[in-house]
Amino acid sequence: MKSKTTVAILAAGLGTRMRSSKAKVLHQAAGDTLLNHVIRAAMHVASAEHIVAVIGHQSEQVMASVNTPGVLFAEQKEQNGTGHAVLCCRELIVSRPGNLLILNGDGPLLKPETLKALVDLQEERAGGGCIISTEVADPTGYGRIVRSASGDIAAIVEEKAATPEQRRISEINTGVYIFDGPLFWKYIDELKPENAAREYYLTDMVEILGRHGHSVSPMLVADETELLGINTRAELAVADRILRNRKNHELMLSGITIENPDSVLIDFGVTVGLDTLIGANVQLRGATSVGANCSIGAGSILRDCAVGNGVNILPYVVAENTRIGDAASIGPFARFRQSVELGENVHIGNFVELKKTTMRSGAKANHLAYLGDSTIGSRVNVGAGTITCNYDGQNKFPTEIGDDVFVGSNSTLVAPLRLGAGSYVAAGSVITDDVDADALALGRGRQVNKPGWAKKRRERNRAKDGEPRK
Ligand code: UD1
Ligand code: CA
Repeated sequence: MKSKTTVAILAAGLGTRMRSSKAKVLHQAAGDTLLNHVIRAAMHVASAEHIVAVIGHQSEQVMASVNTPGVLFAEQKEQNGTGHAVLCCRELIVSRPGNLLILNGDGPLLKPETLKALVDLQEERAGGGCIISTEVADPTGYGRIVRSASGDIAAIVEEKAATPEQRRISEINTGVYIFDGPLFWKYIDELKPENAAREYYLTDMVEILGRHGHSVSPMLVADETELLGINTRAELAVADRILRNRKNHELMLSGITIENPDSVLIDFGVTVGLDTLIGANVQLRGATSVGANCSIGAGSILRDCAVGNGVNILPYVVAENTRIGDAASIGPFARFRQSVELGENVHIGNFVELKKTTMRSGAKANHLAYLGDSTIGSRVNVGAGTITCNYDGQNKFPTEIGDDVFVGSNSTLVAPLRLGAGSYVAAGSVITDDVDADALALGRGRQVNKPGWAKKRRERNRAKDGEPRK
């Protein structure tokens, strides 16, 4: 079945009602563009080389945004209607046998099962085509399905052209069509822009095919939410919610625990391993992957991160572009940015910021530190309050810390700097020069103790207070 169906996705419009400078299909729901959601569904009934996206507005950006390799593009320079849009991919697909499935690029909620059912129905009926319809409480703006006596579709009447009686029809055209390909191309030239909008309406194909004796049937789908077309940002938010609910549901059924799933935002591209627990208000975004048996603490936000197995992330960790090795323990309140790599068993505690930094297995920075542009060896202990001074106001410099180094609390490491393996930095040091392996580095003023000084000061002050005022 997969090889016989060709798909055209109509995605050339700007989407005026979005009130955006960005083409509608570029807007995102659940971490992916509307168009990519539609392509993902189409991939269940056709292979990528048999899917054509009709693009127009911001075609370059739209092409670049598609994340399924192999999908074809047809350009519609002027948007002269949905029928004209399909005409624009004629060259690419006219010679294809089998059925032609047509989808609107702004319908990201369509489920693969529903598409498969539509393809099956068309194959079974072998008529002119089938169209998914649904019944809605408020059909305003949609094309109405006018049924014939036999129950087929006699015509689709657009809002503007509908009679008052037709406007009361609650069964609407969802914009999901399948036609017999060769019949469709045979008669498409009969489409005429004879309507108030002077556009080529794809929906007129129903009457045209009917006239030539090829009936088109409705496939009435009960769940109208699946067929929601996105025209406004309010509808975009509804679609986002629905898609995220589906994603969470799918993860929970596959063996992941999610606490308070309504508060958790997981993008479509995210993968999570078995028995991982996701706390409330967590956001997993972009191309994030989380291994098995992890815990992602409440309020943590991970974007484009790769988390190993058995990792314990405590609440409120914000990380991007970070790889975390197995059995690491992170947070609470840690921040990682711009490419961070943490080996197995690394421990990062509260209020630690890492920027462009690698920490090898077993290294620890348990409290209050900033480590930037640094490479930190295995089993290193970074004391509380340690700061890498990686920036001199103009340039950034690296810090390299060898294996088994101990960096005392409140150390200031002025880069560029190298601490040799096994070396020891005394607490409170300002380190400006490289330290040899196994050496002790002290970089602070020597302490001076003055016996009795404090007591004398007290007595002096008391004597002064006792003097009568002048
Ligand atoms: C269309 C249908 C209507 C149906 C509704 C379902 C027609 C004439 N009407 O109306 O019966 O109820 O969808 O949502 O088809 N597009 C292009 N090029 C164009 C025009 C549109 O690519 O020249 C694309 C748009 O980007 C969009 C899709 O086609 O993704 C639908 O176009 P839109 O203008 O939203 O159609 P509706 O008026 O909603
Ligand atoms: Ca629409």
